[in-house]
Amino acid sequence: MKILVIGGGGREHALVWALRRSARVTEVVCAPGNGGIAAIARCEVVDAANVEEMKLLVERERPSLVVIGPEVPLAAGVVDVLQGLGVRVFGPTKGAAMLETSKGFAKEFMRRWEIPTAAYAVCGSVEMVRGALEKFAERVVVKADGLAAGKGVVLCESRDEAIAAAEEMFSGELLGAGVERVVLEEMLGGPEVSFFAICDGTKAVALAAAQDHKRIGEGDTGPNTGGMGAYSTDDLISAETSAWMLGVAQTVVDGMKAEGTPFAGVLFTGFMMTKDGPKVLEFNTRFGDPETEAIMLRLETELVDIVEAAVEGRIGEIAVKLKPGASACVIAASAGYPGKYVGGKVISGLDAVVEGVEVFHAGTALRDSRIVTAGGRVLAVTAAGADLREALAKVYAAMDGISFEGMQYRRDIAWRALEKNL
Ligand code: AMP
Ligand code: GLY
Repeated sequence: MKILVIGGGGREHALVWALRRSARVTEVVCAPGNGGIAAIARCEVVDAANVEEMKLLVERERPSLVVIGPEVPLAAGVVDVLQGLGVRVFGPTKGAAMLETSKGFAKEFMRRWEIPTAAYAVCGSVEMVRGALEKFAERVVVKADGLAAGKGVVLCESRDEAIAAAEEMFSGELLGAGVERVVLEEMLGGPEVSFFAICDGTKAVALAAAQDHKRIGEGDTGPNTGGMGAYSTDDLISAETSAWMLGVAQTVVDGMKAEGTPFAGVLFTGFMMTKDGPKVLEFNTRFGDPETEAIMLRLETELVDIVEAAVEGRIGEIAVKLKPGASACVIAASAGYPGKYVGGKVISGLDAVVEGVEVFHAGTALRDSRIVTAGGRVLAVTAAGADLREALAKVYAAMDGISFEGMQYRRDIAWRALEKNL
C-alpha cells in the first residue's frame, strides 16, 4: 500500500511513523513534510491549501489512500475534490468540516442536537454584540467565526473588553482579515480534555483521551500557543466519562448524517470538565497536535487498519487498543514563540536519543545535511511508559541532550495528572 499524508508538522511525523509500522504499508509520501519526516518518507513540495496542486499531486503519485493532517485543506474542500477523482481519503468533506471551520455552525448544531456546551450568541455586528452582552455575566468569551489558527478566541474580564475584542475581529485588526460573525460564550472553568473518536459517517469509535497544554508558560500562564505538550493515560478520564464522551461523538455523527453532511474522519472534541459535568468547548475535525504524537506511541492497533476501516464505512469492526500505561510529549519551541521567532538554528543532539523516545519534528528543515529550526514549535519529544512518571522521565532525559539556540520548553507537562497521581 502506498499512502500519501498531507501536512508537515509533528502530528504528521507521528502519523507517518505509525503508518509505516504496518507490513502492509510499502511506501509513505508526505506533502509537504519537513526535515524530520524526510528521514522516513519521501517529501513532496505542495501547498496543502491549494486544491489544484493537491489534485495534480494525487494524480501523479496515485496513492491507495490519502490521510489529511491539518484543517486548512479540509476547509478548502480537498476531500471533496479527491473523492470526486475516486481516491480513498481519510478526512471530512468541506461540509462536514464546518464543525471546526465555523464556530457559529458548531454552536447551532449543538443546540439542535442537545449537546452540552456553553451558552452563546452568534452576532453579525458590534451592535448585536452590545445587545447580546446584556444576557451574559461580566466575564465572557469572544470567538471569531472561522479558522484562526488559535488566535480567534479572546477571554474577556469585562463587557468593555468584549466589545473591544469584537471590534478588532470585525475590523480585521486581530486576524488580518475581518470576520462576518463572532460568537459570544459564557465563560466556563475547569480542566480540559481532548477526546478523539474515529468516524466513518455512521459510527464513532473511541481512539483516546489526552490533555494538551496550550499556554506557553509553566502553571498554564502566558499567551496561548499551538500546544506545548500533551499526555495520555488510562486514568485521565473514567471509563464512564469516556463512554459518555463517545456518546457525544455518536450524537454528532448521527446528527451530521441526518442533516445530509455525513462525518468521516477524526472527530476531536475539546471538553471542559466543569462543576456541572463536561461541556463541549469546540470540535476539531482532524487529529490534534501535540496530542497525536502522544497517542501514536500508545497505539497498539495498526493505524492503517483504523484509517482504512473508517474510509470503507466499517469502523464498527475495529476495536482500537492502546498500550496500558501512559505517554507524554513535550514541545521544544523557538525563542520568542508564540510571538516572532527566527528560524535556521542548528539542532544538535538528535543522534543521541535513546530507543523508546521518538523525536517528532514539528518545524524543522534539512539544510546542507543538517537539521535546522523552521517553525515556532520545533520538536515534539515523545515517549511511552508503564506510568506517566516513567514516560515523562524518558522525555525530559532526552530533552537534556537536545539543544538549539534559544530552545524553550515547559518542564511541567502533565502537572495536573501528577498532582492527582494518574
Ligand atoms: P476553542 O478554539 O474554542 O477551543 O478555544 C480555545 C481555548 O479557549 C480553549 O481551549 C479554552 O482554553 C478557551 N475557551 C474556549 N471557550 C471557552 C469558554 N466558553 N470558557 C472558558 N474558556 C474557553
Ligand atoms: N491540540 C489542539 C489542536 O490541535 O488544535
